[in-house]
Parts: sequence; C-alpha cells; structure tokens
Amino acid sequence: TIDKNITLLPVIAGVNVYPEYIADGALIVDDVAGCIIDYGSSETILANYAEANNQAPVKIHDYRNKLIMPGFIDTHVHYPQIDMIAAYGEQLLDWLNNYTFVTEANFADPKIAHDTAQFFLNQLMANGTTSAMVFCTSHPQSAEAFFTESHRLNTRMITGNVLMDKNAPEHLCVPAEQSIQDTQNIINNWHGRGRQHVAITPRFAITSTPKQLQLAGELYASYDNVYLQTHLAENRDEMAFVRKLYPKHKGYLDVYEDMGLLGRYTTLAHGIYLETAEYERLRATGTQIAHCPTSNLFLGSGLFDLPKTLSYTSVSIATDVGAGTSLSMLVTLSEAYKVQQLQNNQLSAHQGLYQITLGNAQSLMLDDKIGNFMPNKEADFVVIDMAATPLLERRIAQTKTLEERLFVLMMLGDDRVIDETVIAGVSRYKKVATA
Ligand code: GUN
Ligand code: FE
Repeated sequence: TIDKNITLLPVIAGVNVYPEYIADGALIVDDVAGCIIDYGSSETILANYAEANNQAPVKIHDYRNKLIMPGFIDTHVHYPQIDMIAAYGEQLLDWLNNYTFVTEANFADPKIAHDTAQFFLNQLMANGTTSAMVFCTSHPQSAEAFFTESHRLNTRMITGNVLMDKNAPEHLCVPAEQSIQDTQNIINNWHGRGRQHVAITPRFAITSTPKQLQLAGELYASYDNVYLQTHLAENRDEMAFVRKLYPKHKGYLDVYEDMGLLGRYTTLAHGIYLETAEYERLRATGTQIAHCPTSNLFLGSGLFDLPKTLSYTSVSIATDVGAGTSLSMLVTLSEAYKVQQLQNNQLSAHQGLYQITLGNAQSLMLDDKIGNFMPNKEADFVVIDMAATPLLERRIAQTKTLEERLFVLMMLGDDRVIDETVIAGVSRYKKVATA
C-alpha cells in the first residue's frame, strides 16, 4: 500500500534569496521513500495528486497556523563539546587547553561517545536542525559512535575523526600515519552508507605536523566527494602561532593550500582575519567559509566581514557549539545579524532563512538532496509555531508583512518555536505540550 503524508498549511521553500511562501500550502511526502513528491497550494496540489494517483490512500497531517520550512543545516559544530558549552573566561587557545581537551579526552570511552552522540542528535532535532557537518574527537570510536546514532535516525550528517598529532595532550594525539589510517577505515565503513558522509578533519594548523596535513591532503585528493573540514584565522594569538610554525608560508591559508586541503568539498570555520590575496585563493579553489557568530562573540574572536567574504566565495552559517552558545540556527542568525550591525551591514530575514536551509545545503554540495521542497528531494522539514511564547504571539500579531514576521522569528525564535522535526519523512521530534 502507498502511505503518503499530506501536510496542510503555510509552506516556505527556500528558493533563492526570496522565499517562496504559500499561505495555505500542502507538502506531499512519500514516507516510505522519505522524499518529497510535490508541494503547492493545498487545494490544487491535493486535487492533482488524488487524480494522478487514482485516489491513492493518503494520511493527512493538519498543521494549520504553523509554518513549515526545510530542515535547518549547521555547517560547523563539535558534538563532544556539548558537554562543556558555556565554559567561563577564556579566549581560543586557553579555552582549548583548559576546557575543550579535558572534555574531549572522555571520548576514548565508546559508551560516553554513544550517549553524547545520541543526546546531541536529539538536541539538534529539538532545534530544527536536520543535517550538520560535525567534529568528533581524535578517537575513531567517537566518529563510529556518531555515525551509528545518525544512521539509526537517518539524519544526513558529515563527520570524521579529528586529526591531531602535536600541541595537544599526548593522549589526544594520534601519530600521522595511524590517524590517516583511522580516517581511511571510517571512509570504508561509512562514506555513502545511507545518509552518512565522511570529512577528513585536521583540527587546525597548530595541532598537526606538516606530515599529518600532507597525508590529509593526499587522502582528500584521492576521493571525488569526501569532505574536508578545519579551522582558519579565528583569533589573533592563533594567527601569530601559525606564523611562527610556518614562517616560510605566505599566510595561514597558504599552509592549507600547500598541503592540498582546499577545494569545493572543504569547509573552513571562521576566516575572520584574511588578506585580499587569501580571499582570492578561496575563490580560485572554490573553498567555502563557515561563519560562526555566537562562537566569535563568546570567545571574543572578532567580527566576521560577511559582505566582503560573500563577494569572493560561498559562506555558510554555523553554531560552532561548544564555543558557540546555542544549537539553534535561529539564535545563530539573530547573533549573525548583530555582528553585521556592529559593522554597519545588514542581514535580512530572507537572506538569513535562505542561508540556514538551501544556502547551507549549497555550501555543502548537498543542494541536490536537501535545502528546499523540490520534488524528489529528501523530506527533512520543521514545523514552526510562530506563537510559541506569549511575547512572540503578541509581537507577530503587530506585523504587517511576511518579511516582518520572518524577521521577528529570526530575532526572537529559538528551540521553543520548533513543534516538530521530520527526518526523511519520519517524525523524529515532537515538542512536549506545556499547558
Ligand atoms: N580551533 C581549533 N579547535 C577549535 C575548536 O574546537 N573550536 C573553535 N571554536 N576553534 C577551534
Ligand atoms: Fe569549531
């Protein structure tokens, strides 16, 4: 039997920067195949579907007065750091040494890794995030645990073991050859299995030997669509450290380019302190930058120049938890807006909401699969309650236009507005009713 879901209500499909908004919409989902069949105005789409399918049976989910959007995508986040989010008082390098490495050491224990991965994935869904590019720890079992839990939920995720072989506690360092072999094994086990993808994950230039970075580059070059993720130009002390480690290179980005780490499947987090020549190399290599506003503010790293970076290359928006302070992509957008305001730039609701759906999908080369409601894409979506709190309800009632409403949602929304999260046609999170 065919079992289809029909969704009645407003739909937003992030098509280009201007969202497509359907006031009384329907989304037709094949919940066996997990993909979208069609979307449109509820009257015509339901009639057309019934006719074309000879009155095939459908299950109707009524989401009247709610907003349906494509699932949110987070392009840079560390799952083990959920256990040390909101750690007091330090900037990047001391924060890593005093808090991050201490917590990451726990992930040698596969049970801790599985429990935390499960908790983290549930938190992502509670925040409306359905796909992410994720850091684990240097323990291969941390990646194994994450993929196992993600595969069970059928979320589309990208991750890999973190490569570190110096300038970190010895028990977190894995020698270059061994660490690359670990990544190779993870690729063999997980890359392309269900909705899982592997990313080669050198932490950053400081914690890898040139040998480890070089081997990472060679492994990256040997695949067409394995990802690579690392950090770039986040903090001034970090910049000075890299300059000392690589005095002969033109700059931070040049170290990565020299090691073969740049390309269309590469995501570099931060990129706050870049020279014009470096922006040009990002463009030439098709390398994208993940902007992490709550992290940049929390660690006091600096203000990201969004218009300038966008004029050279693709930019995605990411939480960077645990340096970031929220897993909510709506909260992240709200902080991104403020970071731009401090530089006299704006970030509109249309641009922001486009960014955390189709825009981030494009940055991750996944826009053929996720990011909007085009037929045959995977049915990852969120049901949003724009009246989730008394304040939101009251403020939304004052708005006159869709853009105003969406801006209020972007500034005031968080996990409380997420009523339900659907992964490949299957409901995986429902908000517990409060009253
Ligand atoms: N640079 C290297 N490692 C990290 C990390 O875990 N978080 C952040 N924000 N920056 C980093
Ligand atoms: Fe990070």
